[in-house]
Amino acid sequence: MTIRKRILSGIQPSGTIHIGNYFGAIENWVRLTKDYDCFFTIVDYHAITVQYDPALMQKRIWEAALDNIAAGLDPSRCTIFVQSHVPEHTELCWLLNCVTPMGELSRMTQFKEKSERERENVTAGLLNYPILQAADILIYKADAVPVGEDQAQHLEFTREVARRFNGRFGEFFPEPATLIGRGARVMGIDGASKMSKSLDNHIGVVEDPEAIWEKLRPAKTDEARKRRSDPGSPDRCNIFSYHKLVTPEGQIEEIVKGCAEAGIGCLDCKKIFFVNLRKVLDPIRERRMELEAKPELVREALREGARKARTIAQDTVQGAKALMGLVTDF
Ligand code: TYM
Repeated sequence: MTIRKRILSGIQPSGTIHIGNYFGAIENWVRLTKDYDCFFTIVDYHAITVQYDPALMQKRIWEAALDNIAAGLDPSRCTIFVQSHVPEHTELCWLLNCVTPMGELSRMTQFKEKSERERENVTAGLLNYPILQAADILIYKADAVPVGEDQAQHLEFTREVARRFNGRFGEFFPEPATLIGRGARVMGIDGASKMSKSLDNHIGVVEDPEAIWEKLRPAKTDEARKRRSDPGSPDRCNIFSYHKLVTPEGQIEEIVKGCAEAGIGCLDCKKIFFVNLRKVLDPIRERRMELEAKPELVREALREGARKARTIAQDTVQGAKALMGLVTDF
């Protein structure tokens, strides 16, 4: 029997998944469940590193589970669990805290961006966020981590943590590879920054199609194309970057030609994208509705996922503690 390589990835419970999460990561996760031993976690401990509403947290975790399963993560083919249900993640995080220099943490791009936004509320948790992420990955000794491009620095950091630990205490953690998804960096509907729930520039995966169209219709295209009769440049158009995610090759060629020759208007081009996007999103939204009617199935998957993950996590923490001189026979 060949041993399958292991994958771990995570997502924050931030209300709803968007097409950036889907084409940057989740689509890849679903594909990888065929060949890898896969672990996916809803990272609630990461979500509390910034301001949040405790009254909404349970709902968000639940929705993240429903969304991800509806998007194709089949609990019978992979392990899905909530991070805080496997408390060993924070135990390993502490151990790794003690081998990580502080300076590296304050230089992380996401920390700098988020601390700028949080201002009054920059917690030690936010600073230590990448160490918890490293613990999420290393606790399963993952071989690879499928993510969008924005997580690449956290993964480089994770490899550094593994190297530092191994160098000091002996070879123990493998250095995980980064697997970037097809939509490495999906831009927001504003065309100005990365799609993100917190910037409110997202298209939700299970969002009502009418609401999606209301966002698409007025969305910016190639700004140099002022009139329908002006030729356009697909490479300067945010909607064209979306087309590349869902539109078949032949149709892409027609759009490139039509746009450059002013044969197709921006609204028509958006309609084609909308139709193709719906081919991906409609079945997910339908599965999501079916799942809502079967909450026990989802609850059981999360319980079983945490149980399976915990067995491995406990083993790794024991091993790490032993190497660090912490396990005794008392
Ligand atoms: P999060 O919750 O922000 O995003 C989940 C996944 O979606 C990807 N993603 C995107 N990809 C392309 N374009 C976008 N606009 C876009 N927005 C989000 C992210 O790259 C990510 O893969 N820190 C992580 C969660 C985490 C984690 C982990 C990930 C915690 N522990 C261990 C991997 C392994 C985060 O906040 O992802």
